[in-house]
Amino acid sequence: MQFHSHKCSHESSIESANRMRTVQLLGVKEENCTTKTLTFQDNLSKTADPGQFLMVWIPGVDEIPISLSGISSDGVTSITVNAVGDASSALNQKKKGDVIGIRGPFGHGFVPVKGNVIVIGGGTGLGPMLPLTEMLVDMASKITVMSGVKCQDNLLFLDRFTDLLCDVNSETICTTEDGSYGFEGLVTSQVEKKLSSEHVDMIYTCGPEAMMYHVFRLAEQYKVPVQASLERIMRCGIGLCGSCVIGEIRVCKDGPVLTSEQLRSIKDEFGKSRLDWTGKKVKQ
Ligand SMILES: Cc1cc2nc3c(=O)[nH]c(=O)nc-3n(C[C@H](O)[C@H](O)[C@H](O)COP(=O)(O)OP(=O)(O)OC[C@H]3O[C@@H](n4cnc5c(N)ncnc54)[C@H](O)[C@@H]3O)c2cc1C
Ligand code: FES
Repeated sequence: MQFHSHKCSHESSIESANRMRTVQLLGVKEENCTTKTLTFQDNLSKTADPGQFLMVWIPGVDEIPISLSGISSDGVTSITVNAVGDASSALNQKKKGDVIGIRGPFGHGFVPVKGNVIVIGGGTGLGPMLPLTEMLVDMASKITVMSGVKCQDNLLFLDRFTDLLCDVNSETICTTEDGSYGFEGLVTSQVEKKLSSEHVDMIYTCGPEAMMYHVFRLAEQYKVPVQASLERIMRCGIGLCGSCVIGEIRVCKDGPVLTSEQLRSIKDEFGKSRLDWTGKKVKQ
C-alpha cells in the first residue's frame, strides 16, 4: 500500500526554510563603529517580507535571530548586525568568503499600506526598515522616516534612506540623545510632535522595547495603528520551544511584527518583562 503525504504548502515551505543551509559571504560593509552589513546569496530570502528574520548560525559560537536588511529578487540578501555580545561580535568579525549557516526567513513581517506613514527605527532597528521603505515608496502618499540613536557615531543608513526617498513625498528626521546630530533627545518627542500635527495612517517601528512601548502608547492616544517588530530570546525560530513567548504570543511565529491589537493583548508584559535564558520572567 502506498501512503501519500498531505502536508499543506505552508507546512512544507516552513520545513524547507528550517533546513540549515550554509552561505558564503559576498561582502561585509562597516556601517558605523559597532555595526556591519553582511551580504550573501540566498534564494529562499528572495521573496521574504520586510520584517522577517533569519536564524544565523556562527559556527562554534551560537545561533541568533537577525532581521533581513536587504531583500532582492536576484537573491542577494543582507543582514545588519550590531555587536553586543559573543555571537553578534563573532558575526561582525567575519570577512568576505567566510561561511555562516542560516535558517528562515521566518515569522510575519510588516504589511505596507497606502496613505501617510511613519517609519521609526531605533539604532539597528533601522535594518528591517530599509526593505520596508523600498516597498512603501511605491504605495504610500507620504513617508516620514524617523531615526533615533545615542550619538552621531551611531547614525545608520542615512544615505540609503535619502536615496530611497528622493523622488517621493517624504521627510527624514534624525534625533541623537546627546544632540551631536539632528534634534537632541529621544525620537519619541518627534513622534509626538508629528502625531499632534498630522493625520497619520500607520506607524511602523523597530528598536529598543522602551522606545516601541512609548511609540505604542502615543499611537493609542492618537488612535493610529502600529506595526512593531519585537525582540525576544529565540532558539527554534518556528514556534516549538517557547523561549520567545509573551502572553499568548510566540514572537518567532506570530511576530516578530505585531499589530496594535496583538500589542494590546500583551499589555501586561510588553515594555515591562521578558523571559530570560532559563525561561524565568524578568523585568525588561
Ligand atoms: C526577530 C529578531 C530580529 C533581530 N534582528 C536583529 C538585527 O537585525 N540586527 C541585530 O544586530 N540584532 C538583531 N536582533 C537581536 C540579536 O538577536 C541579539 O542582539 C543577539 O541575539 C545577541 O546575541 P549575542 O550572543 O551577541 O549577545 P548575548 O551574549 O546574548 O548578550 C550580550 C549582552 O548584550 C545584551 N544584549 C543582548 N541582546 C541585545 C540587544 N538586542 N541590544 C542591546 N543589548 C543586547 C545582553 O543583555 C547582554 O548583556 C534581533 C532579535 C530578534 C528576536
Ligand atoms: S523561538 Fe522557539 S517558540 Fe519562538
